[in-house]
Amino acid sequence: EAPGPLRGWRALVTSGPTHEPIDPVRYIANRSSGKQGHAIAGALARLGASVTLVSGPTREPDPDGVAMVHVESARDMLAACQDALPVDVAVCAAAVADWRVRAMSSQKLKKEGGQLPALELAENPDILATLSRPGRMRPGLVVGFAAETEKVVAHARAKLARKGCDWIVANDVSPSSGTFGGTSNTVHLLRGDTLEDWPPLSKEEVAQRLAAAIADHLVGTGAE
Ligand code: PMT
Repeated sequence: EAPGPLRGWRALVTSGPTHEPIDPVRYIANRSSGKQGHAIAGALARLGASVTLVSGPTREPDPDGVAMVHVESARDMLAACQDALPVDVAVCAAAVADWRVRAMSSQKLKKEGGQLPALELAENPDILATLSRPGRMRPGLVVGFAAETEKVVAHARAKLARKGCDWIVANDVSPSSGTFGGTSNTVHLLRGDTLEDWPPLSKEEVAQRLAAAIADHLVGTGAE
């Protein structure tokens, strides 16, 4: 643990996409490079927190000073998050696939034969909503992200209420924003009814601001 205001505090961060297998060679996934989630985990660790970073497949290097758990699917991600509890703060920045194929084929589906495979989907568990449920293991502060392509703040507000988290980072991921895979990000922080519009920042700067806001909330650092 680094010395810092969050020394002695435990944090859980999710990052990256999840991969939901169709057969041994194909999968369903969301777009995410893992840059934003990994930067948040690194920023919290630099403030002294004990951080577990649960990430789907990405090309990002493991950040320094975090306990890393690599997973593939949403169900694996949920299990790894539950194993990491209890924590004081959870930040869900992963782009979790909402659906998986109900029954993965154990053999590669063949193109020959002229028939298109019919993929029956099943809903994945919602990790953010599960962590937000009231109970003994609920983190004191649960922060979600809302990736939106239009009406960014309105949709994020609805998501905050629906998922039961405390804060939500409303993230503009419209194609013109360049958010996916890029190094910059345009976000709004919603804390209950309080809305803050942040200017376009690098993902590293978004991570530092968010980590500072979390430290301020947990220990009153005045670091924001
Ligand atoms: O990885 P990068 O390329 O740097 O991009 C960063 C990002 C755009 C992926 C990231 O900043 C971001 O916005 N992450 C959330 C992506 C997302 O899937 O958002 P959503 O609006 O679909 O989901 C809302 C929230 O519920 C998120 O906190 C998500 O982690 C969570 N969720 C969603 C579905 C599910 N089954 N389980 C979840 O926990």
